[in-house]
Amino acid sequence: MNQLGPKKNKYNKILLMYSGGLDTSCMIKWLQDKYSSEVYTFTADLGQEFVDPSRFEEIEEKAYNLGVKKHYTIDLKEKFVCDYLFPTIKANGLYQGIYPLSTAVGRPLIAIEAIKIARQEKIEAIAHGCTGKGNDQIRFNVTMRAYAPNIEILQPIIEWNMGRDEEIKYAQLHEIPIQKQNKKYSVDENLFGRSVECDVLEYPEIEPPEDCYSWTVSPENAPDNPEYIQIHFEKGMPIQLNDKSLNCVDLIRELHNIGCKHGIGRVNHMEDRAIGLKSREIYEIPAALILIKAHKDLEKFVCTKHENSFKTIVDQRWTELAYEGLWVDPLRDALEAFINVINEKVTGEVKVKLFKGSASVVSRESPYGLYDINLATYDTKSTFNQKLSYGFIPIWGLQSEIGFQVRNTAKSITGSTNNDQMEEVIKYETKKE
Ligand code: ARG
Repeated sequence: MNQLGPKKNKYNKILLMYSGGLDTSCMIKWLQDKYSSEVYTFTADLGQEFVDPSRFEEIEEKAYNLGVKKHYTIDLKEKFVCDYLFPTIKANGLYQGIYPLSTAVGRPLIAIEAIKIARQEKIEAIAHGCTGKGNDQIRFNVTMRAYAPNIEILQPIIEWNMGRDEEIKYAQLHEIPIQKQNKKYSVDENLFGRSVECDVLEYPEIEPPEDCYSWTVSPENAPDNPEYIQIHFEKGMPIQLNDKSLNCVDLIRELHNIGCKHGIGRVNHMEDRAIGLKSREIYEIPAALILIKAHKDLEKFVCTKHENSFKTIVDQRWTELAYEGLWVDPLRDALEAFINVINEKVTGEVKVKLFKGSASVVSRESPYGLYDINLATYDTKSTFNQKLSYGFIPIWGLQSEIGFQVRNTAKSITGSTNNDQMEEVIKYETKKE
């Protein structure tokens, strides 16, 4: 078997995906020492610094203080929303029915941008701070390997074997500044969501403590009056909020703020990771939850039942590919071709009621809606000819009825039946005679 892991002991230049946190800060020094390399750093702005965008300047300063050759901060917010989040909304992308892929779909974008920097700077290896146990390593590595098979990928966390205490010692030894407040959770944030892991959250039998949430108010403390919002979708993409046309990033930001205020989108999930581990994940996904719920409702309204049923299968497959790090797989393009055709008619308004942690669709309107009140109404004015049922139902149920009867006859021959209700009916008939 080929040796697994880094192929060389020395690189001229390494690009590190840098968050400014303890792991990747130690990594700058470690890569410089271990591979006698110049280190370049890259921080992707996916809107994670909701509160304070000046944090990106601090990250850059920290990188330079640790001796990096060049630092890149790249604003990817718009690209992230248009090319990654909107497709997620169109695919109603909720992994295992609950997680809107907020961290997952950011990864291929970051990986592709890293490759661009590496090409520009003639860098031979890219390092990142993922462990060997999660999904993010798969998402980064598969994307980078597909786009640039010649660039090496380094995962220091797998190599260096340091726990958190050792990392703190290492940081002290190398004069790496450590943030004062002790961060007990591992957090990933962007415009679409906040993922939280570690510490007490690793015990699924324990309710997550309030301090693991930092965006949303607890539903108990949310306002006592509901708030109604109106979202306008055009071909499956949200473009207006409460009749205001907004740029894609601002729309998500504004929905985020409204959702946080009402305690929307706290998710407590036992998740199946791509590598097979089960893990407990906490998410705060206010905007994502509202948008996917609203989109799904409108889509269902404009599609036939056959489209709806098949779309569910396609959505699930798309979601699994995105979650499992196979964004580059040609199957995603093929599924997206279908998803986009369906979304051509997902245009209209959805009204959502936000109240103490719940977001529920209360009404929808679309020029493409398939609902016809003249047919559906229970009023006597209905144009639906109910007499047609006499012909339709025997044909509709033909095979199922025969199948049921044959199965019961066969069972009575073998002397056993597992259909208790049928037994009852037979007994009842015998009694009457
Ligand atoms: N389980 C999620 C995913 O695989 C989130 C991982 C987020 N990472 C973190 N450091 N909390 O997409």
